[in-house]
Amino acid sequence: MKVTVFGVGYVGLVQGATLAQAGHEVLCIDIDKEKVKGLKKGVIPIYEPGLESLVQENYKAGRLNFSCNPEEGVKHGYLQFIAVGTPPDEDGSADLSYVLNVAQTIAQYMDESKVIVNKSTVPVGTADLVEAEIAKVLEQRFSDSEPQFSVVSNPEFLKEGAAVDDCMRPDRIVIGTKCKQSEEALRELYAPFNRNHDKIIVMDVKSAELTKYAANCMLATKISFMNEVANLAECLGADIEQVRLGIGSDPRIGYHFIYPGVGYGGSCFPKDVQALIRTAESCDFNAKVLKAVESRNVEQKNILYKKIEKHFSGNLKGKKIAIWGLAFKPNTDDMREAPSRVLMESLWNAGAIVQAYDPEAMKEAQRIYGVDEKLILCGTKEGALKGADALVIVTEWQEFRAPDFELIKENLSENVIFDGRNLYNPERVKDKAIKYYSIGRVAYTPTPTMRAKQKR
Ligand code: UDX
Repeated sequence: MKVTVFGVGYVGLVQGATLAQAGHEVLCIDIDKEKVKGLKKGVIPIYEPGLESLVQENYKAGRLNFSCNPEEGVKHGYLQFIAVGTPPDEDGSADLSYVLNVAQTIAQYMDESKVIVNKSTVPVGTADLVEAEIAKVLEQRFSDSEPQFSVVSNPEFLKEGAAVDDCMRPDRIVIGTKCKQSEEALRELYAPFNRNHDKIIVMDVKSAELTKYAANCMLATKISFMNEVANLAECLGADIEQVRLGIGSDPRIGYHFIYPGVGYGGSCFPKDVQALIRTAESCDFNAKVLKAVESRNVEQKNILYKKIEKHFSGNLKGKKIAIWGLAFKPNTDDMREAPSRVLMESLWNAGAIVQAYDPEAMKEAQRIYGVDEKLILCGTKEGALKGADALVIVTEWQEFRAPDFELIKENLSENVIFDGRNLYNPERVKDKAIKYYSIGRVAYTPTPTMRAKQKR
């Protein structure tokens, strides 16, 4: 099938490439000339496992192409995907200007029947706005016999770091439409991905739009709830990791998304929780649970700083803090809403210097903060330890899971680790005589005898 995708951001690029891989003829349109030029040369603007080869292969095979020409885009596909950004407004509601601009563009150039597919995460009611926008422009362009169109909601559920796999093997494909013809077109499009059992769930447009928000908000709720219980466990002297296993064993709760940590980040959860709160307000509904989820998360992003500040008795001026992990989660270079940013900014405000390492996000950190003497970016995790007073783990990259504790001890002046992801068994760190703070578990302080034993 011929498909046009507007927006080669995260969602558009992954979706476009996977659709091409399934044999469809995909044309991706973006206003960013440099990005389009780069993509034609096989340069991928984001880090996502498997994406580079997928884009390069399909481009070579002629199934995937890129252009800055919107007219060409509109003429190409019967299916017109809108996958442009919906950044938060000042008040946290989703800014729809990019989505509505694409709607206008489609209406401006379409001469025959089209199905417009909303892939961007958009507030409930957006499909209606897109439909109205297109109808308005078509009315101006045609005195009678305007081309037919319908607007479908088809939210994406991909996770960064696993986006290609999520698109190739989706858990579910939600299609929001009441139009049989559009439903059939999308069934045909997704047939290559709809194997083993039927993953397609068809519903009305508004329910599909809300499904996307409800899914992300439910996951964010699980995380904030768990972070709340973790903080409580710490007050009570319980171990959240034991509690996690205890509750996860109940299949109604499950083991997923109950890992306590430093708060959720990324491009989706923070934005979507805020947007749903705003949507609720717009219909005079007070989303109490979501507000609590959001406020717990804001506090949680500060939790490591609070522990560090307390450990150093508020005196962080001139202290050198090693940070392992800057990306909001492993397998991505994305630092949007990353807890590392909140931590670093608090450390800098208190006069500390940060010495950081991340396997993928170093360039991104440089882009955000520029060259700054308060942020020393190191090429290795060992390099980040040199001359540091303490080590803080913010992202659970695989390579941080089994470190050389002796080397850590040799380098750190204070012999202390702050672990925001509970990567280590406290018993093991205990043997190394390192002071160990984690999340939802009491801090371990080595006893004098143990320190002496270690020295021998
Ligand atoms: C999320 C959804 O998972 C995906 O379905 C949706 O389409 C987009 O938003 P993503 O933002 O890529 O995907 O990351 P995800 O793996 O879900 O993690 C989000 C955040 O939650 C990260 O900051 C992560 O560290 C945090 N998290 C996740 C926890 O703190 N604890 C957990 O148990 C799980």
